[in-house]
Amino acid sequence: MKHKDIRIPVVVYDSIDELPEEIRELMEKAKHTRKNAYAPYSKFKVGAALRLSSGEIITGNNQENAAYPSGLCAERVAVYNAGANFPKVPIQAIAITAGAENHTVSKPVAPCGACRQSIAEYEQRQNSPIEIYFMGEVGQIYKVNSLKDLLPLSFDSSYL
Ligand code: THU
Repeated sequence: MKHKDIRIPVVVYDSIDELPEEIRELMEKAKHTRKNAYAPYSKFKVGAALRLSSGEIITGNNQENAAYPSGLCAERVAVYNAGANFPKVPIQAIAITAGAENHTVSKPVAPCGACRQSIAEYEQRQNSPIEIYFMGEVGQIYKVNSLKDLLPLSFDSSYL
């Protein structure tokens, strides 16, 4: 028997001002699109902005439904939007931000498990890593270099 130790590198930025300029712009777009989230049930609004290798920016926000599981997270709305409209253009980076109605979200909000699985599919499809930057409404921003870092030991088409 042996033990494996899986570590993930995370870059921590103390504020949005520390981000590279084009990522700061991306996070500003995510913040802007967060306001358009449809979240009457959770009152938790999430915005995601993707930068494609063409420079195009695609946004998405969470869309809830009275039948709760029918709703979709911001990240998947954005990624599927890119997949539907720019299927051949790789995604370089994703910026994610979240805010709540009744408290200030100051911890970085990482994509949920289902969104990680969906983004993993896009990395595999485009055969290049996607940088992921995520934050709350205020506070630190975390960055990982690839979705793989957020979903080690993942399931993909190589098993099929
Ligand atoms: N949500 C996202 O949009 N992205 C995440 O990564 C976490 C959760 C949404 C889903 C739901 O509309 C609300 O936040 C509360 O879970």
